[in-house]
Formats: sequence, structure tokens, C-alpha cells
Amino acid sequence: MSYNAIVLKQYPEALIDESTFETRRFESKALQDGEYRVQVSHLSLDPAMRGWVSPDPSSYIPPVQPGEIMRSLGFGVVTESLNPDYPVGTQVTGMTGWTEQIVAGEGELSVVPAQVNAELALSTLGMPGLTAYLGYHDILQAKQRQQKSQQTIVVTGAAGAVGSVVVQMAVADGLKVIALAGSEDKVRWLKEDLGADTVINYKTDNVSEALTAASPDGIDLFFENTGGEAQHTVIERINPHGKVAVCGLIADYHQAEASPAPSWINLIKRRATIEGFVITDHFHRSAELANGVMHYLEQGKIQNRVHVLDGLEAAKAGVNMLYSGDNTGKLIVKL
Ligand SMILES: NC(=O)c1ccc[n+]([C@@H]2O[C@H](COP(=O)([O-])OP(=O)(O)OC[C@H]3O[C@@H](n4cnc5c(N)ncnc54)[C@H](OP(=O)(O)O)[C@@H]3O)[C@@H](O)[C@H]2O)c1
Repeated sequence: MSYNAIVLKQYPEALIDESTFETRRFESKALQDGEYRVQVSHLSLDPAMRGWVSPDPSSYIPPVQPGEIMRSLGFGVVTESLNPDYPVGTQVTGMTGWTEQIVAGEGELSVVPAQVNAELALSTLGMPGLTAYLGYHDILQAKQRQQKSQQTIVVTGAAGAVGSVVVQMAVADGLKVIALAGSEDKVRWLKEDLGADTVINYKTDNVSEALTAASPDGIDLFFENTGGEAQHTVIERINPHGKVAVCGLIADYHQAEASPAPSWINLIKRRATIEGFVITDHFHRSAELANGVMHYLEQGKIQNRVHVLDGLEAAKAGVNMLYSGDNTGKLIVKL
């Protein structure tokens, strides 16, 4: 029995291109005691992948080495098992890599309940949803609206896998939501379907003017997914004890030099806090974070938008859709 997997061929200089990855055929190995074989059915494509294929060893996770199967979250079903905790037919998720098949051991992959499908397990109830929940509740400590007190939150990358969950939790909690995205389709979805109060197209609108007009009472919370111009206006308009959660800076992932940051003076004047975070530090809390997201899902407060590509080969070029903005929703490859 053999299967296909995609390995890193060489680190890209800028954008990932056809010389970055290659498909190889592998022979299936026999199971050892405690192991189980998974037929992978879905892969997750994530912005962090650009960092994983850069040789920088100082990041939160070591780079993928040339010749290794590309790192990726995935979802599949156990097809053969020598582990009673993972019987044949069990749905699992975790770091599968870009492969059709994987042999894993105890605790390497998490069991997914039968009522949760692959798309949900990789999006709102998976890594992006948990990231959104952690940043919104733990880092920003957003407060549900109480009578006249209403916090104003700004969310960049608002139509994406993480951002759209943040927007929807904030709308559900009664915050005033200012969302930024980069296409008219995304602007319409955020405004009409998700209920954001103001949506700014950062590619066509004057971001500074639009943010200023939308936040007459200042800005309390900022969920930063992208980097770019909004940072400067948010920090100028941050309210006393305002909080910034730095989740992602996708605009900088291909830049040789970091973008200039806003002045820190308002961190003192307004006693504001900026905190970066990475979800992998909190994976031991996955069940608790997923329960938090489930609370919103069960009340029908979160729509799950996925963008599904077809076939393992689609992963290679598909990942660039995250950097061009061509994905509409959580980007997933169906094998
Ligand atoms: N800290 C963590 O643990 C953690 C975990 C997951 C994700 N993240 C980060 O969170 C962010 C969102 O991730 P996601 O999975 O939800 O991806 P996503 O939003 O579903 O897809 C990426 C989106 O980023 C936007 N984008 C691309 N280039 C941009 C640029 N130069 N300026 C502004 N926006 C740009 C595009 O949307 P537009 O069409 O709107 O431009 C694109 O659709 C990323 O920065 C990612 O690295 C962090």
C-alpha cells in the first residue's frame, strides 16, 4: 500500500511557488502496538505556513526542514488500529501534515465527536475558532454590553477564519464592532450577514478617516490580524486601559523589514496594553476554549464560512490565496 504526500523542496525567497514543494510517493508502514492509521480527508491551509517554511529558527515553532512532509493541521478517519482509544471509524484531528495517510500514536491526534464534521473541526471549532476565543476573551477581556456601557472593538482581517469568529462573538455580546476587510464581497458579508456596525474596505477606503468617523467615543479593544495602517489610528484613538491583542501580521509575512510601528506614547498616557499571543501555547486548554466557542454556536450566533479546494495538489498553490485575499472563509483542502 502506498500514498502521496507533499514535502518541502526548498525555502521560498518571497511567495511560495512551484519550486517550494514536491509530491512524493511513500510506502505505508506496518502498525506497532498502540499505533493507528488515519486516512486524511481534509487539510487546513493557514497563514502561519509562510513562517514554517522560512529558515528562521527563533520563532515559536521550528521551521520545516527540506525533505520533510509539509506541516499542517488536518482531519481524517482511523482505518486500522492497534490502539483501543482510537478504534476504526474514529474521527481525528491534529498535525497530520500534507499527506493522504498518517500513522500516529497515543495522544498525537485528538478525537473529534461524530456530530462534528471536518469543516467545523478545522474552522470555528478548530484552531482558528480557539484562537479567536482566546484573544477575544482572555487577552482583550471583552465585556458584554451592560445598559449604557458599550465597548468599541476594531477587528482587522475581519472576514477571515479567525476574524469572522471574533466579529460574531463581539456582535453577539453587544459591542460596537468596526471591521476591516479587503473586498466588496467580504464587506457585504460582514455588514449584512454578520451585523458589524461599520465595515471598512482597507484597499479602497481612507482607513484613518473611516476609523475616526466610526469611533467617536474612542477605541477600547483591537484584535489585530493583519498589520497595516489601522494600527496607527487605533493607537491614536485608544481609550484609557484599552487593550490590543496581536494575533497576526499577515501584511508583514513577506516583507524583508518590519513595518514602522505607531508611537508608544499612548501606552503611557492611556495606560493601554499590547499583547502578542500564539494558540499553540494554549492547546492544553483546547477543550475549555472549544466549549466557549460552542456556547455561541449553540445559540446560532456564529456562521461558519469555508472555502474548500479540491485534491492534495491544490495545497501547493492554494496557500497563496491567504496572502492575496482570494480565500472567502477558512481555507481547507478536501482530499
Ligand atoms: N496567533 C495565533 O495563534 C494565530 C492563530 C491563527 C491565525 N493567526 C493569524 O491570524 C491572521 C488571520 O488568520 P486566518 O487563518 O483567519 O486567515 P484568513 O483571515 O482566513 O485569511 C487571510 C486573510 O488575510 C488578509 N490579508 C492578506 N494579506 C493582507 C494584507 N497585506 N493586509 C491586510 N490583510 C491581508 C486577506 O483578507 P482580505 O481580503 O480582507 O485582505 C486574507 O483572506 C493571520 O495573520 C494569521 O497568521 C494567528
